[in-house]
Amino acid sequence: MQEPWWKRSTIYQIYPKSFNDTTGSGMGDLQGVIEKLDYIKELGVDMVWLTPIYRSPQRDNGYDISDYYDIEPAYGTMEDVERLVQELHNRDMKLMMDIVINHTSTDHEWFQQAKTSKDNPYRDYYIWRDSSDGDAPNNWVSKFGGTAWALEEHTDQYYLHLFDKTQADLNWENNEVRNKLYEMMNFWAEKGLDGFRLDVINLVSKVQSFPHDESAADGQFGKAYYTDGPRIHEFMKEMNQAVFAPHNLITVGEMSSTSLAACQQYTSPDVNELDMTFNFQHLKVDYEKGKKWTDGKLDFIKLKQILSDWQIGMHQAGGWNALFWCNHDQPRIVSRFGDDDLYRRESAKMLATVMHMMQGTPYIYQGEEIGMTDPKFSSIEDYNDVETQNAYTELKELGLAESAVMQIIQRRSRDNARTPMQWSAAKNAGFSEGEPWLSVASNYKKINAEKEVKDKDSIFYHYQKLIRLRKEYAIITHGDYEPLCMDNERIFSYERRWNGEKLLVVANFFGESTEFTYPKKETEEAEILLSNYQDSAPDYSKIQLRPYEAVIYLIKL
Ligand code: GLC
Repeated sequence: MQEPWWKRSTIYQIYPKSFNDTTGSGMGDLQGVIEKLDYIKELGVDMVWLTPIYRSPQRDNGYDISDYYDIEPAYGTMEDVERLVQELHNRDMKLMMDIVINHTSTDHEWFQQAKTSKDNPYRDYYIWRDSSDGDAPNNWVSKFGGTAWALEEHTDQYYLHLFDKTQADLNWENNEVRNKLYEMMNFWAEKGLDGFRLDVINLVSKVQSFPHDESAADGQFGKAYYTDGPRIHEFMKEMNQAVFAPHNLITVGEMSSTSLAACQQYTSPDVNELDMTFNFQHLKVDYEKGKKWTDGKLDFIKLKQILSDWQIGMHQAGGWNALFWCNHDQPRIVSRFGDDDLYRRESAKMLATVMHMMQGTPYIYQGEEIGMTDPKFSSIEDYNDVETQNAYTELKELGLAESAVMQIIQRRSRDNARTPMQWSAAKNAGFSEGEPWLSVASNYKKINAEKEVKDKDSIFYHYQKLIRLRKEYAIITHGDYEPLCMDNERIFSYERRWNGEKLLVVANFFGESTEFTYPKKETEEAEILLSNYQDSAPDYSKIQLRPYEAVIYLIKL
């Protein structure tokens, strides 16, 4: 069988709202994406993932869709989407659209109908329950804080919302709902796009008795009853047959709080569900007791353990990982696990190296390739995100001081990733002529794409080289994975083996020098494929690693 093209590819994620504004509205748009396609092509990626651009009240920036068949006017028109597909294909790149089918906006026509009466034909498109003793039907909580149930007063029943109360969960038990969704996805597939990113897709199958949750140590009550739920694999297979297979689409599922076993099953090639999955376990290693809105410290050993377990587990099952540090829901990785000040360049390159040499398909989130940082806004007024706003209120209610609350917000807010793309040192970082919907980070004169592209030693070109290595060296795609020095508190190291070759990655994860000793007896001669310092040592048996130094060795066995 021919190897699927996406196993050697890298995907670039665009959050259109913050990418490039061509109208002066303060919000990015589709024309703005088209304008920057040559820049993206220069990086060397094969595909662009666009977060939702459908009609939406924007309560959750487009993850609350009110019309699947229409484009949010601020972004442009259907013709713009068609042009974007064309312009990408002209440059030999592909388009992946984001699709949100766990829930719709409560502004969606289906919900507007459904809420009018219990016997409305659309009522059963959503999940309605009676109150329990004058309270919500059960104790499940929303991922954005508070109860997961909202009372619809007119019909005196509650509807389920695992996210904001304007994002009502669809009832996937209803065949008509699933068929309507597949029909809509086929409409998009026929526009010529090449793949889908499926938003929180592992939450669509709920345990139908909707039990009270006694367990959830992290306070996420309900999670056990809707994550990778009872009919999830059946639904994925059905959707694959109805939508993905006929159009030969590439698919990545966003998997909330999932397990390795579940992802092995979603992505094993013979089961025909999904091509690959995002999981977030490696991005919870700085949460205190599993809770996001805390000021926890990075558990480095745990980070290595989790990434290794997934590398080994997915390899064994023949499954496939989506590899990533960043997206629109995560803080900037260079601020989070690197050093966004003195060693910004070295640490950004090190983090990229560690991730991109693993097995899977890497995703780069806009601005990551130029080392953009968290903006560290000082006031809650500067944050827009609904989840952040809720967290602020909850933390204040817990009695935390303003400064302590803001410290947590600065580290955790999803807006860290959503500040406008820093294109140049011009007004608003060259993002917009108008008033940006979210402030630009103040360091844009120092950190911007124009500068990066001019400097041959920049983070941008390091990413470009990593993308190229994946295409040149089959071992990156096919090799197995063996973690090295797992107890070492400073070094991230692993090796990959395939077809008479070995790829060794050695990275100092911190800002102080440290010594690496190759833990095995054999040492063959090595070629350095890439390093973030000019003069890394060719002999890997013992290396004095400088701050954030990361080296990739290729060894012929
Ligand atoms: C996903 C999206 C996130 C959104 C949520 C609800 O996690 O990435 O941005 O808020 O789903 O749709």
